[in-house]
Amino acid sequence: MRNFTCVQDLGDLQQALKEAFEIKKDRFQFTESGKNKTLLMIFFNSSLRTRLSTQKAAMNLGMNTMVLDVNQGAWKLETEHGVIMDGDKPEHLLEAIPVMGCYCDIIGVRSFARFENKEEDYNEMILNQFIQYSGRPVFSMEAATRHPLQSFADLITIEEYKKTARPKVVLTWAPHPKALPQAVPNSFAEWMNATDHDFVITHPEGYELDPVFVGNACVEYDQKKAFQGADFIYAKNWAAYADPNYGKVLSTDRSWTVDTDKMALTNNAYFMHCLPVRRNMIVTDDVIKSPQSIVIQEAANREISAQTVLKKILQEL
Ligand code: CP
Repeated sequence: MRNFTCVQDLGDLQQALKEAFEIKKDRFQFTESGKNKTLLMIFFNSSLRTRLSTQKAAMNLGMNTMVLDVNQGAWKLETEHGVIMDGDKPEHLLEAIPVMGCYCDIIGVRSFARFENKEEDYNEMILNQFIQYSGRPVFSMEAATRHPLQSFADLITIEEYKKTARPKVVLTWAPHPKALPQAVPNSFAEWMNATDHDFVITHPEGYELDPVFVGNACVEYDQKKAFQGADFIYAKNWAAYADPNYGKVLSTDRSWTVDTDKMALTNNAYFMHCLPVRRNMIVTDDVIKSPQSIVIQEAANREISAQTVLKKILQEL
């Protein structure tokens, strides 16, 4: 594997899951594979889990790691092409990217949707420039439209906890005070569609995701109906995708918060969220602290998904 930006890049998903569980059994069995190789992680946006889990995964493989927070300590980067650089951004991404590539073997990039230009966001302008100009394998640490390391960890977690071969998995929109990208729900839907799950998406009207990601999912506007018989509830907020409301918050209706009454409609479902989560907006304290909440186990699997991806990229270096 050269680059990792979406589920298709992994190739055989069942084989990748098998490799992930092998790594989970003994995460230090491949410490030679990354020897004298350097991972550079570039963050245009904040992170707790991705930063720590990916760095830990790289260290498990014997890699050296470097982290650059673009907005803290680096030159402000111009990302637009063809502009007169007479403003506050002294370096262009077109020089910065190949320079970064000189100092490492693999690059991880986090760059969220900006909600300024839908076409730019959905064309993954930043991530694709790293792929085009760095001369290095590049993997997404959450880009504008997808968060594949998260989705891979989500799938590993579902595989670990599922009680039936084809569980009912429900992705539910939940309220949040600020506009959040669609990357996590898009990606989760993409990965669920790549597997054989009974997959349902529920959200208020106006929050329809890009049909490319919805795929074969059943879309149900009645959240309580969607929860009935569910084995997994995956909560997430996202801002509107459809025009003319792209990137807007249309509702903060707390009747969509995941609470114990709604969880009682499910088949004793596990509660999942990628974190960070706003308690009592997305999910009540009672649900997130209940034994059915597997958000910490899910976050722990971020190390496994990152290590599986890095190992596959190292094999092709
Ligand atoms: N879930 C996730 O990606 O967390 P961070 O934003 O903290 O990395």
